[in-house]
Parts: sequence; C-alpha cells; structure tokens
Amino acid sequence: ITVYVPRDSTALALGANEVAAAIAAEAGRRGLKVELVRNGSRGMFWLEPLVEVATGAGRVAYGPVDAGDVPGLFDAGFLGGGAHALAQGPTEEIAYLKKQERLTFARVGVTDPLSLDDYLAHEGYVGLKNALALTPEGVVQQVLDSGLRGRGGAAFPTGIKWKTVAGAKAAQKYVVCNADEGDSGTFSDRMVMEDDPFMLIEGMTIAAVAVGATEGYIYVRSEYPHAIATLNEAIAIAAGRGYLGDNILGSGKRFRLEVRKGAGAYICGEETAMLESIEGKRGVVRAKPPLPALEGLFGKPTVINNLISLASVPIILARGADFYKNYGVGRSMGTLPFQLAGNIKRGGLVEKAFGLTLRELLEDFGGGTDSGRPIRAVQMGGPLGAYMPQSQFDTPLDYEAFAAIGAMIGHGGLVVFDDTVDMAKQARYAMEFCAVESCGKCTPCRIGSTRGVEVIDKIVANHERPQQIHLLRSLCDTMVNGSLCAMGGMTPFPVLSALNHFPEDFGTPNEKAA
Ligand code: NAI
Ligand code: SF4
Repeated sequence: ITVYVPRDSTALALGANEVAAAIAAEAGRRGLKVELVRNGSRGMFWLEPLVEVATGAGRVAYGPVDAGDVPGLFDAGFLGGGAHALAQGPTEEIAYLKKQERLTFARVGVTDPLSLDDYLAHEGYVGLKNALALTPEGVVQQVLDSGLRGRGGAAFPTGIKWKTVAGAKAAQKYVVCNADEGDSGTFSDRMVMEDDPFMLIEGMTIAAVAVGATEGYIYVRSEYPHAIATLNEAIAIAAGRGYLGDNILGSGKRFRLEVRKGAGAYICGEETAMLESIEGKRGVVRAKPPLPALEGLFGKPTVINNLISLASVPIILARGADFYKNYGVGRSMGTLPFQLAGNIKRGGLVEKAFGLTLRELLEDFGGGTDSGRPIRAVQMGGPLGAYMPQSQFDTPLDYEAFAAIGAMIGHGGLVVFDDTVDMAKQARYAMEFCAVESCGKCTPCRIGSTRGVEVIDKIVANHERPQQIHLLRSLCDTMVNGSLCAMGGMTPFPVLSALNHFPEDFGTPNEKAA
C-alpha cells in the first residue's frame, strides 16, 4: 500500500517528518507493508500535513494529520480509505483542487519530486524532446505564439526576450532563472523547486536550446534551504541520465546548470542586481540599457526569466502554443499560480486561467479571512503592489485590467487584511521597507524612502497634515518618475493606494464613503 506524506517545506514546518515516521513505526508494529512516498504539497496548506493513500478508486486524503493521530487512522482503516474525522475524500475531488486549472502545477503534489521516472511517467521531458525536433527559431516561435508573458511581474513577452538573445551574436550565452522569490505572500517558485524540480530544469534546457546558451544558473534566495538541496539533487540526477551535460539526449547540444544562493537582499530579485550577485559582487542595480538580453551575465547575452515563466515552457512545448493560449483572457494568456496568504482561511496555491476575479479567489477559494472578520484590504503583487479595497475585488485578474486601476498582479501573490488593519501603518511600512532594502544607487529611492517615513509620521500625528499630504504626493511623484528601478519606482503604489482608498486611517475624511 502506497502512502504519500509531503516533503514540501510547508508540510515539514507542520510536522510532516514526524507523521511519516509515525506511519512507518505504526505499520511496523502492526506487521503491515506500507510504501511511503514523500511527494510534494498539493498546495492546500490548511490541510497540511495532508496524508494520501493510494486505493483502487484513486488517492484519498486525510488532513491535517498530527503524529498523534496516526494510531487512530490505522484503527479506522485509513490504508483502505476508511472513514475518520480527518478524512477529506478523494483528493482530486476536494473543491479547492477540483476547481483549478493546473497546467504548470499538474504534477505538483502528485509525484515524487526526485524520481525522474515518475516525472517521465507524467509527461516529463516531452517538451524538450519536441523542442529538440524543432529548429531553435521554431522553439522561440512556439513560446511567442503561446502568449506567455513574464511571470515575475513585469509581464514582458517571454518569446520576444528569447528572440533578442537568440539573435545576439556571441560565443557564450547564458540562461538565468530568477528564483529570488522575495515578494510577500509568494511561494509558487519554492513549490516548483521542492515539489517538481525537473520541470524547471527542463524549461531552462528548452530555453538554452532555443537561444544557443550552454550554461545556466538558478539564483535561489538563501531562505529556501530545502529548495536548494532538492534542486542540487535533481540536477545531479538529470545530468546522470543525459538530460543535462555535454550531449543532451544524444542531440550534441550542451547545457550545464548550477544553483547560486543569494544572501538575503530583496533587491537581488531585480534582474541586474541579481547578475551582479551571481558575478560575486554586491547586489547593486545596473542602469539599462544595455538590456541583459544583449549584455547580461559577465557581459554576455543572457535570458533572465522568472522561475514560473521557465516552468511554464515544458507544457507549451509538449502540448503546443495553441493549447496554452486557449486559457486566459485578452493579452493575459495561459494560467497563473495564484498564492493566497495573510489573513485567509484557506491559504495555498490556486492555479487558474487569467480572467477570474479577485473576489472569486478570496471567497470561493480562500473562504474569507481566518479571523472571521470582513476583508478590508488585499495587497496583490508583493510589497510594491497597491492595496485594493472591496470596491475593486470584482476586477478580473488580467494584467491590463489591473494596470488600468493602478494595481498589479505581479508574481500572483496576495496578502489579505481584515478590518482591524491600520492602513497608515501599512503605508509607513512600505516606505520603511524601501529604505531598508534600497540598494542606494539612486537618490529618489535612497533618500525619498527615509523622508517618506518621516512625512507619514507627521501626517498621522496631525502635524501640518494638509501640507504633509501634499508633500507625500509630490515625493511619490519624484520616486515614480526618478527612480532607476522598480524598488523606488513602485513603492509609491502601496503608499498612495492606502492614502487614496483609506484616507480615514490617515486622519482625513473618506470623501468617497461620505
Ligand atoms: P521591465 O519592464 O523593465 O523589464 C521586464 C523584462 O523584460 C526584463 O527582463 C527586461 O530586461 C526585459 N526586456 C525589456 N525590453 C526588452 C527587449 N526589447 N528585449 C528583450 N528583453 C527586454 O521590468 P523589471 O524592472 O525587470 O521588473 C519590474 C517588475 O518586477 C515589476 O513590475 C514587479 O511586478 C516585479 N517585481 C517582482 C518581484 C518578485 O519577487 N517576483 C519583486 C519586485 C518586483
Ligand atoms: Fe537602487 Fe532604489 Fe535606485 Fe533601485 S530605485 S536602483 S533599489 S536606489
């Protein structure tokens, strides 16, 4: 009998190792033969550790399981799918999972992350094989036609980026995966690295084949030790079986891959600061142009993509561009793994085609706040994303629709706040975060963020409030228009959205409400 206990960090933090050990010990005591598979997480975090049992009728789920629950589960006959207070029924029938459209995350939680055979049995490496049968231009065309846009937040068309690198003449080119997942409330990159690492390796190999790169780096934040360990193991396994190295699948193409660990700076998620960091220097932003696509790592043409962009590529090459672009709305094609965090009842990962509304994510999937109080604000797109009030919750999740209201989908993470939140404090926090994380290269960000904290303090203390509000708006204008990168350039979005949508928290009447 096969029993699945996740090895994903979320499950581990909630005691999955203890649960796995308890299941092995209890089975031993009862003389039962149990095969334990350490799968990834299904992304339903309120049910972790989620234990699954393979039955004749498919996998059935129990959760959240504590090591102390294990003897009772055996007594209830959970190995045969028996009834128990923690029983969730067939896993795939759990509404949260059933309503999703899992393309990129199709294998996540299903397979053993470090079993290449399991990966191959679940459509793994079909994309790379198809890519090797095409010309490099043909591969770039598939990605262009799929409509895939950068999933790190900027939504730049991935195919155009690849085309730029492919067209650059150079003896050496690189592929760099940005896995410095620093946005608040985000964890989709981490889940891929821990729960389906071969998908990322395959996506990067396809990128390398498409643009003519022979070396690649995965830049992972130091806060992700499990992801780093899993990736390193997966890279060694893939290389050992000819999926990486000097002669990929007998094609004569070469691609080597290395993991680089960051040192905990948010700004190293900005692509040029990341390049500096990989080169062994302090993470300071470079001026653009030149674009990294033309002069990137060590001055060579470099594809830099967010992890989810690269992880979306295998299925595009496996099933074709038309398959992928049939999901989504307008120019937002395909799916995005949304991440529900903060004060939310059912936090976790929801992969859906673009076009559903924020309210559907918050209510149908998230089930409202964990505190049971009304939702007051949602910050989407990380610490540089705008705070959205209830009146904006019916906005469809579509890059253009969000941009039209000054909000941002970003990397798909959302953090929920209930009605006890103080939005002036949140605005102050945004400025403070920028002051702490600024690389210091340009004045609007380096100085502006510190002045921003002081001005917000004066507004809250009602010290010349109208003048200070005027000053804050003017400061934000300077930061938006004068900063070298998104750090200083986007910090005003959370600040101004808090001030505009929740003026009462700054001691000024809410004109809209009045
Ligand atoms: P950007 O709009 O300047 O560039 C987007 C990407 O397209 C870059 O990789 C750039 O090099 C490339 N590019 C632009 N023109 C090109 C061309 N003609 N040919 C080839 N490549 C081209 O945005 P940037 O500064 O890279 O990122 C800002 C975004 O990052 C924000 O919108 C925000 O959503 C997001 N962000 C994400 C975070 C995360 O943790 N995922 C954290 C902070 C911000
Ligand atoms: Fe550095 Fe901030 Fe300027 Fe970006 S905006 S280059 S983080 S000082």
